[in-house]
Amino acid sequence: MKLIGPFKQIITLDHLDLRGKLSDEQLIIIENGGILIKDEKIEAVGDFEDLKAQNPSVFVEAIDSEQIVLPAFVDCHTHICFGGNRANDFAMRNAGKSYLEIAEAGGGIWSSVQHTRNASEEDLLNLLLERINKLLSLGITTIEIKSGYGLNVESELKMLRVIKKAQALTKATLVPTCLSAHLKPRDFEGSSEVYLEYILNDILPIVKAEDLAHRVDIFIEKSAFLPDESKAFLLKAKEMGFKITVHADQFTPGSSRIAVEVGALSADHLEATSADDIQFLASSDTVAVALPGASVGLGEPFTPARKILDANGILAIASDWNPGSAPMGNLITQASILATFQKLSTAEILAGLTFRAAKALDLCDRGILAKGKKADFVVFLTDNFQNIMYQQGELRPSKVFVNGEMLTI
Ligand code: NIG
Ligand code: FE
Repeated sequence: MKLIGPFKQIITLDHLDLRGKLSDEQLIIIENGGILIKDEKIEAVGDFEDLKAQNPSVFVEAIDSEQIVLPAFVDCHTHICFGGNRANDFAMRNAGKSYLEIAEAGGGIWSSVQHTRNASEEDLLNLLLERINKLLSLGITTIEIKSGYGLNVESELKMLRVIKKAQALTKATLVPTCLSAHLKPRDFEGSSEVYLEYILNDILPIVKAEDLAHRVDIFIEKSAFLPDESKAFLLKAKEMGFKITVHADQFTPGSSRIAVEVGALSADHLEATSADDIQFLASSDTVAVALPGASVGLGEPFTPARKILDANGILAIASDWNPGSAPMGNLITQASILATFQKLSTAEILAGLTFRAAKALDLCDRGILAKGKKADFVVFLTDNFQNIMYQQGELRPSKVFVNGEMLTI
């Protein structure tokens, strides 16, 4: 056992509802607190001096000055396994060029597919580890990572195997997702329905046999896969034992409904969700995932996070870090921007970055500082937790702990 502290403030995020509105008055803040660790898990959270008195012989890992601590963040939607760079897409888009013009100039998702297909496993692994380390340095210790830049058996499996290798080399928890249904690749001969069959018959059985991912995602959109074929695909993937998540309502409404109907863990994007669909989604157990990094990257509206919370939905916030629509990768900056535009309380933002995001990954062992939870937490050198959002990502963690051990960040 060891006791870590004393911290100026512990923001436990305990005893908050999984769904709906939250006010900052509901936050439990322990002043001069300590965290007791046993077998990599949290044994107790409370007053530092009390915990010390109750455990007189415990090893104390002292915290040197005014620091606050909260549960480590969870990024429940990323595409950080990729080769190449799409700075030219960004510049062209900002200069007013259309999606088609960008694609004709060699950009778009297809450009990332070619770079990822051409990258060696070793190069892809190194790029991925660099990005994981950046997220760890921001206090994000659980990271979902999608395939979807391979789009054939060989390269989709390469991506997922690289993610598996990365897991052996990092302390972060990586949650892989098979997004072979990101787009029908240009070199696939056959309809999108046939491509979805190919994923079901030729890719997912190997993903399962090699235990490369337990989750399947699809991009439902006019430019990608249509609602009916997507629903049939998701139901079959579910029958194979995969959990489901969906890229939904990014540019056109309607697909979050499919996510709910198939019992998806989460429906992500939702920038174009209609009022009716917000109600439908918010009454379900499917987590609504806002991706402000994509809104900022594309100049598109923000996910209606306020309305989702007011309708009692479960709202998580993720980075969508990818080379095209969301190149920034700083989830804390993005969450702070979302709060400003959508009028979210600090409690709503912190919940969306921690236990509500963990729910989107079906992980109930983290995101809260309480007895029995995974001892992942993030420490900031500041005397007030409000400074984290106030400084819009510029206040970096001073320490990050995984399983009760301090990382070198
Ligand atoms: O989540 N919307 C589809 N897919 C990604 C973009 C991927 C890319 O542009 O490379 C997204 O924003
Ligand atoms: Fe995405």
